[in-house]
Amino acid sequence: MEGIKLNQIGVSFKGSGSYVPDQILTNQKISQKVDTSDEWIKSRTGIAERRISSSGDNVTEMGYKAAKTAISMANWDIETIDLIILATSTPHDLFGSAPSIQAKLGANNAVAFDLTAACSGFLFALITASQFLKGGSFKRALVIGADQLSSFVDWNDRRSCILFGDGAGALAIEAISEFDNFIGFDMQTDGERGSFLNLPSKNKMDSIIDNVNFLSGGFSPIQMNGQEVYKFAVREVPLILDKLFRKTNISSDEIDWLVLHQANQRILDSVGERLKISRKKILSNLENYGNTSAATIPLMMDEAIRNNKIKQNDIIATSGFGAGLSWGAALIKWG
Ligand code: COA
Repeated sequence: MEGIKLNQIGVSFKGSGSYVPDQILTNQKISQKVDTSDEWIKSRTGIAERRISSSGDNVTEMGYKAAKTAISMANWDIETIDLIILATSTPHDLFGSAPSIQAKLGANNAVAFDLTAACSGFLFALITASQFLKGGSFKRALVIGADQLSSFVDWNDRRSCILFGDGAGALAIEAISEFDNFIGFDMQTDGERGSFLNLPSKNKMDSIIDNVNFLSGGFSPIQMNGQEVYKFAVREVPLILDKLFRKTNISSDEIDWLVLHQANQRILDSVGERLKISRKKILSNLENYGNTSAATIPLMMDEAIRNNKIKQNDIIATSGFGAGLSWGAALIKWG
């Protein structure tokens, strides 16, 4: 007896979008708050300024705006979207912000949920969505990365506050049977090293009535061991990308663009050197936005697509890394 015929389903990249708040915080302005300088921040990180959300620009709003522009590039009818995944660590609503974005878009036929994996979040969400498409469950998916870390940064800690900014980016991806532009991926976590970067809950003992206590909710600001995170990134990111190149039989020479999570220009340069990828192929917009966590990869991709750098059929190696610790890589072809 014949079994069920398996149809190979691939993924096609149809659209991108991004959004950043208007308010700009330059290095110069940060030096009015903590003991630092434009020169120090630029030379150690490559960052010159970042965007900071003020009233209205929460993760739901930013994610919605990025998603809307991605949908319009894809030229999709809103009703045809099946899946919306929002990668964020700073939702407007801890119960999940993706359904609010779904409602604002009017994507009535989609299921929407949040996914948290810090700065690896967008990559993990893209991999998750692609598996739903390849598995045949859904046809059209929106993958959004949005974060508002400015609300959780300790603005008195010069070792970390200089790095982060707010923003959102989104990609629109579609199941297709003719080809597969989602070439391969890999992902990893290591909770043993999780203490290097945290945004931990802060619970205070309180009582409901006499003799019945509870822990009130809240969060402490971001805690980071910068040197350890740096060492982790420059070691693990080249390793996971190299493994992926071998697995997919694509050499680092064949890629058109390297789109890394935008954490620090020195990390980008070091990964490029280790993989022998020319600087011209390493995309960076750190100077303007700093580290926007789950938003950096789609924000960078959208900018490069709109500037006509990333073109149809370009091969992109991408890697996200950060708290967890978590890291991952994907090889895709645009279009
Ligand atoms: N301005 C001026 N001086 C600063 C400073 C600042 N903003 N931040 C730290 N310093 C000082 C330190 O106090 C230290 O001084 P000391 O030697 O007198 O004690 C000196 O600069 C060196 O500090 P160090 O922490 O060794 O600096 P660094 O070269 O490692 O750079 C980071 C710090 C944070 C830029 C770097 O470690 C980094 O980018 N790490 C990765 C972080 C990251 O990407 N996190 C997100 C991952 S998703």
